[in-house]
Amino acid sequence: MVKSLLKLINISIFIAYFKPLWYNFPGDVTMKITKQKGTRDIILEDAKIWQYVENEVRKICREYNIGEIRTPIFEATELFARGVGDETDIVNKEMYTFLDKGGRSVTLRPELTAGVVRAYIENGLSTQMSPLKLWYIGNMYRYEKMQKGRYREFTQFGMELFGSNSYLADIETICVSYELFRRLGLADKIELTINSIGCSECRAKYITALKEYVKPRLENMCDNCKRRYEKNPMRIIDCKEEKCKKELENVPMITDYLCEECKSDFENVCNTLNEIGIPYVVDKKIVRGLDYYNKTVYEYTAKDLGLAAGGGGRYDKLVEVLGGNATPAVGFGLGLDRIILLLKEYHLCDNISENIDVYFAIIDKKAYSNGINLVNDLRRKGYIADIDICRRSFKSQLKYADKLGAKYVCIIGEDELSHNKCIMRNMKDGSQVECSLDTDEIVKCIGK
Ligand code: HAM
Repeated sequence: MVKSLLKLINISIFIAYFKPLWYNFPGDVTMKITKQKGTRDIILEDAKIWQYVENEVRKICREYNIGEIRTPIFEATELFARGVGDETDIVNKEMYTFLDKGGRSVTLRPELTAGVVRAYIENGLSTQMSPLKLWYIGNMYRYEKMQKGRYREFTQFGMELFGSNSYLADIETICVSYELFRRLGLADKIELTINSIGCSECRAKYITALKEYVKPRLENMCDNCKRRYEKNPMRIIDCKEEKCKKELENVPMITDYLCEECKSDFENVCNTLNEIGIPYVVDKKIVRGLDYYNKTVYEYTAKDLGLAAGGGGRYDKLVEVLGGNATPAVGFGLGLDRIILLLKEYHLCDNISENIDVYFAIIDKKAYSNGINLVNDLRRKGYIADIDICRRSFKSQLKYADKLGAKYVCIIGEDELSHNKCIMRNMKDGSQVECSLDTDEIVKCIGK
């Protein structure tokens, strides 16, 4: 009795003493952690749509002879401040910037052009080939107000073309971007709008005229416009506030201030688009939200949804601004999240899912090795094949195969195994045929 009492006291002391050590063991404390605002998990069927779009992107880039580039997700903050522009919304309000453990200011890329230009300079790509065409698919991060199609983590397919100052390079990037919409069946759902914002000379003249026009109206305009008047006047044109739009009704347009060269380049872009049959609308109000652009700028808008599906243009000074040799450049970025929204909206991705060709339902437990050999053989031949991995009942295996949308189920029971046979069940009409336990025979049955 005394002995067991002592034992109990010992155990209590042990628990009391060690409790703090194990009490907060992660497995003991349950806590539901949810994803960050503006981010999404892309799962199963959705992931298939992404794969479909990414495959089309890869095909197009291969056919257009564009090389791939992958750059880091974080870069020095200075790259975006200098590259994208201090006065842009992106740099001002939307960047995910933090100090790393070494005290350096780094930023999750809010766009990819600046990173590609940095890589172009840093890796001496100008000496390798000119012109050089690069493409990428990458995630980017902007701390934006959430709404349909606007996320804090999103993905762009982009292209950057270095080393040609001809309008033909602008056309090449428009052809590539338009081609993606065409192949996805979205060409008539989007509108391509283009403009020229001129070179630095024509822009300087225009900004003087713009400021002259805006000055007497500025007090009726929003705070954003007031700030932009000093720092980035061209962005005033882009203001979405009703009161500002009203004040800007008769604002001078950049196209009236283009120098001969910019005018002729823009005419060439428009004429070529007409000749190659890419529909577009000239929109003199496009100025774009990033500071690096000059001359041709363009945007793709999803007409019914009123969403920007992509944008691009020329940026002939950026390579120099970031420390490289003067190099003309042009490119675009398409919002893949928005493109996928459009595909879903217009039911253009309803039938892209590939069903599995054959599912192996094993009744005789001794048949698993035969099943694994056959299923792997079929996979090596390019068939989509799967096999029970839970040793479930035959009924559950059939139910699972049905859920997977399997075209055929290959059934191996004791009787079949002893005769080196299987039963191939057509899941569409329920018909069954006997077949040898042989990959080629099974392939014949599947009939693909
Ligand atoms: P951007 O106009 O800022 O251009 O973005 C291009 C596209 O990315 C937009 O038209 C939109 O489809 C998508 N996008 C932007 N922000 C979001 C968001 N928060 N959520 C979902 N989609 C979004 C650029 O980024 C330039 N770097 C494009 C470029 C490349 N210009 C020359 N080369």
